[in-house]
Amino acid sequence: MRAGRRLGSFAIAVAVIGMNISLLHLLGQTPVAPAGANQGGGRGSAQSAADAARALATFPAQQRPPGDPALIARGKSLYSVSCQACHGVDLRGGDLGGPNLLRSQVVLSDQDGELIQPIVHGARQSTGMPAVTMSAADVKATATYIHSVVGSSKGQGAPPDTGIPPPNILVGDAAAGQQYFNEKCTACHSVAGDLKNFATRFPDPKALQNRWVSGGSAGRGAPSERRTVTVSVTQPTGERAEGRLIRIDDFIVTLAAADGTLQTFRRDGGSPKVEVHDPMQTHRDLLSVYTDRNLHDVTAYLVTLK
Ligand code: HEC
Ligand code: HEC
Repeated sequence: MRAGRRLGSFAIAVAVIGMNISLLHLLGQTPVAPAGANQGGGRGSAQSAADAARALATFPAQQRPPGDPALIARGKSLYSVSCQACHGVDLRGGDLGGPNLLRSQVVLSDQDGELIQPIVHGARQSTGMPAVTMSAADVKATATYIHSVVGSSKGQGAPPDTGIPPPNILVGDAAAGQQYFNEKCTACHSVAGDLKNFATRFPDPKALQNRWVSGGSAGRGAPSERRTVTVSVTQPTGERAEGRLIRIDDFIVTLAAADGTLQTFRRDGGSPKVEVHDPMQTHRDLLSVYTDRNLHDVTAYLVTLK
């Protein structure tokens, strides 16, 4: 029997860039959502606060009513997990090289997450911001939080607080970093193998740190062999097909088999059984696990790989 319908001229191109992320969204996974971050209700004293904010607003981007306090609180915890390491606790840029969001034209022009969402979902991967796996609702909450901070800041481009020394990236302990690396990273990486001379490839510590945290971007071109997302499809009869994942949604899954042919299967609830394997998943999930110290230690260790 034929396990699937073959589609000869399926557009492979759609699968190449950013597939990992859109896939995760289709699958409804939100691995970076912090525990206890509830979808919030509650309107609070939005009206009087809105009036106060309008009275204080000094430039157009601030003249918006403040968001729902529950949504802001949820956005704040999402921000702290998924954005803070790069954009800073005060949104003015962080250790990992994210730019100041208080002065960002994108943020100032954004109304309700619509300009921020594509960036969070990977539009800037080639310039250093990895795609972050987050549902649209979570992006919106995060955007609401960001707007609330912008709205409460004194004015566009207000000078950063004085007295805070510029962050030095090389503050970690290389020995502790090596130990962390041996525990968490050697399942997939080796300093004698893929990461040999890593610090020679990235002589600037900041660029090095961005690279290892993001895992590198697929850039333009096809993703490397090592980050190819694969899928296996098992029929109730036990018949099984495997290959590179081309496309998946609730109704169909398309894969490219080893011989290059495309096979599309209809999905009906849990049948056939579909298992997606994304080699970058664990690397990305670690992003919400590291502490600042882990980050600095690992960076201190990786800069020794010359
Ligand atoms: C690993 C580091 C990293 C993480 C995590 C990260 N960003 Fe970024 N982000 C960057 C970098 C680097 C840029 C600059 C990219 C560029 O210049 O195109 C950027 C750019 C942006 C911009 C555009 C700023 C502008 O004006 O061009 C926005 C908005 C943004 N990030 C929001 C977020 C949000 C929201 C999150 C969390 C959900 C997040 N970022 C997580 C590194 C990061
Ligand atoms: C489950 C597997 C897995 C784990 C665990 C993992 N990574 Fe990765 N990582 C990957 C994959 C896959 C890539 C993409 C490699 C590629 O495109 O060739 C990657 C990319 C990288 C890169 C970029 C490599 C390059 O050549 O530019 C660095 C650096 C890196 N990881 C460091 C780490 C560190 C440090 C840890 C531990 C804290 C870690 N990874 C944990 C799978 C993993």
